[in-house]
Amino acid sequence: MARVLVVGGGVAGATAALESARLGHQVTLVTKRALSDSATRYAQGGIAAVTDPTDSVAAHVEDTMRASAHAASREAVQVLCASGPDRIADLHGGGMRFDADPAGGPALGREGGHTARRILHAGGDATGRILMAALIERLRASRVAVVENTALVDLLRDPLSGRVRGVELLGPADRVLVEADAVVLATGGAGRLYRHTTNPEVATGDGVAAALRCGAEVRDLEFVQFHPTALAVPGTPLVSEAVRGEGAVLLDEGGQRFMLAEHPDAELAPRDVVARSIARAMAEQGGRPVLLDATEIADLETRFPSVTASVRAAGFDWTRTPVRVTPAAHYSMGGIRTDLDGRTSVPGLFAVGECASTGVHGANRLASNSLLEGLVFGHRVAHVVGEEGGAGSWPGPADRSYASDESPVPTVPLTAAAAGELRERIADIMWERVGLSRDATGLTAAIAELGTLAARVGTVPHPLDDVAAIETRNLLLLGIRTAQAALSRTESLGAHHRADAPDGGRTHPAPRRELATDPRGV
Ligand code: SIN
Repeated sequence: MARVLVVGGGVAGATAALESARLGHQVTLVTKRALSDSATRYAQGGIAAVTDPTDSVAAHVEDTMRASAHAASREAVQVLCASGPDRIADLHGGGMRFDADPAGGPALGREGGHTARRILHAGGDATGRILMAALIERLRASRVAVVENTALVDLLRDPLSGRVRGVELLGPADRVLVEADAVVLATGGAGRLYRHTTNPEVATGDGVAAALRCGAEVRDLEFVQFHPTALAVPGTPLVSEAVRGEGAVLLDEGGQRFMLAEHPDAELAPRDVVARSIARAMAEQGGRPVLLDATEIADLETRFPSVTASVRAAGFDWTRTPVRVTPAAHYSMGGIRTDLDGRTSVPGLFAVGECASTGVHGANRLASNSLLEGLVFGHRVAHVVGEEGGAGSWPGPADRSYASDESPVPTVPLTAAAAGELRERIADIMWERVGLSRDATGLTAAIAELGTLAARVGTVPHPLDDVAAIETRNLLLLGIRTAQAALSRTESLGAHHRADAPDGGRTHPAPRRELATDPRGV
């Protein structure tokens, strides 16, 4: 039996914790806010998995590879797609109920990049919320010790063996050091790096930043997915791709269906293609958002109750008129490099879900593969966390260990006001220069400007930091690393579009016009 510490309470973390406990490990799950506050809860479309006899794992694999710009690892994708049916069966066994069609079978949705209807959904477009409720109920009934409102400060490494031996945490009352035989990071992505994002406030890349400081290998940080359709109002709430799957179309402000000229699959082209096409259409109309016309969908409000609530809250009636939409940062394809069981390059440290890079997404994630990823790799990691070392094998006190190019000690504590200002600045730099379209000049300027901010405040948590300050330093570190990765990849590939290498794109025609970088009206 190992002492397993899981950081993060979304689908990947909850699955890893539940399965580790089922296998007899002593499990603690730590989450920055309440268990219900992860990004999982906001997932609308559903879970992509093969459950229909007319569909096949081979087709799911091919769709995932094509969407990834053929940059995904086929071996990893095979594991992901082949494990889908078993993980869905586990959810059924745990009491999760998906929406059914009138004949009683699963009501399968379709999304961009999929050649078949294979998206299981619940509550119409409330899949993430209902999935999280089911997982939370199981966690509460399990032997997993859940610690809420507690943030990851840093990882602790054994100075002799280099093995991760625990974590430093900041709880509501104090900082604490917690020993563990295995630390599983399931901390999600870093959508909050960007001015416009569909991600909740918790998405600040804390696990990836801590892994970087600990010297773990990361990869593909330049592959940031921008969801094509967020509602163009403050907060940019997600408008699920499943809405286009049910027939909604995109129009420019002249009423033209511009996606027909962009890709043979039009609105259901892979996500990166649609997002860039929207940005170009916006550039042609002075940066103003495009329109999503869903008025032809008969059961629009019952099929999409969560989106309907956002649309209504913004004062619109989308059953009668098209709504204004814009791309927004949505998902981090890169992250902490792992093998297919979640092992990182650092012994004792594991990673699963959005913070990990198993190779399943390549340069562009296929729609609704993210909940599946959390289920599959959360399950797999539980089977290896106990394999090396056990309780009592720690030879001495553990140290934080910072990668050589990080400043070891930040120069000043960050006040709440300074942290807030810094975050605004980071989000603007990232949106303007490291967004949907990048070039060497902008990326070089971004690295210089972020570097100046880092020189002032550091990228390492300070002993006096509160959670907001820790998050801000993490965002700064990730912003720099993302911009550096984007500068190094001089080709366009999937979601990474280099305006100064327009012929490098492999999955779609080269862009014809400049991209919009700031959706006015948002
Ligand atoms: C959506 O519903 O469009 C989001 C699903 C996903 O990110 O895969």
